[in-house]
Amino acid sequence: MEYNEAEFLFEIEVPLEELIVSRTDLKGVITYANNTFCEISGFSQEELIGQNHNLVRHPDMPSGAFEDLWKTIKEEKKWNGNVKNICKNKSFYWVNATISGVYKDGKLVEYKSIRVPISKDEKLETQKKYDSMKIQNNEKIRHIVYK
Ligand SMILES: Cc1cc2nc3c(=O)[nH]c(=O)nc-3n(C[C@H](O)[C@H](O)[C@H](O)COP(=O)(O)O)c2cc1C
Repeated sequence: MEYNEAEFLFEIEVPLEELIVSRTDLKGVITYANNTFCEISGFSQEELIGQNHNLVRHPDMPSGAFEDLWKTIKEEKKWNGNVKNICKNKSFYWVNATISGVYKDGKLVEYKSIRVPISKDEKLETQKKYDSMKIQNNEKIRHIVYK
């Protein structure tokens, strides 16, 4: 993905008491977004529903994280991991996401994701881990210097 180096530098803090919730169909197309997801991401429900969830994919995320996510949920197991997402205005927010199946009459019909905030230390540690995943996979990483 191409991006302007000066973009994606503003962080939105997810308030401690908030949960960001969404559901998708089995292909990852958004079917539900709660108000907190809309408020934090800056997208309206109309802009989110019907879109692939990669609408909020941040370029700093390694593709390996999503490969692991999809492999896990397709095996009908629960996936948990830290995710950096992009907002409509190109700022970003970090969350810890738990993604699992939604079942109807015992059949997997959708996936749901419930996200909570993470600490600053966890964000920095996760970004380091994700940068090394990207380097191993020959994906472009950004070196950001905060002054
Ligand atoms: C329920 C659910 C929630 C998801 N939430 C996110 C999310 O918040 N951010 C994100 O980048 N990808 C999320 N994904 C993964 C996306 O479907 C997609 O795999 C990812 O953004 C990478 O995009 P790509 O597969 O087009 O490379 C979610 C998937 C599911 C099933």
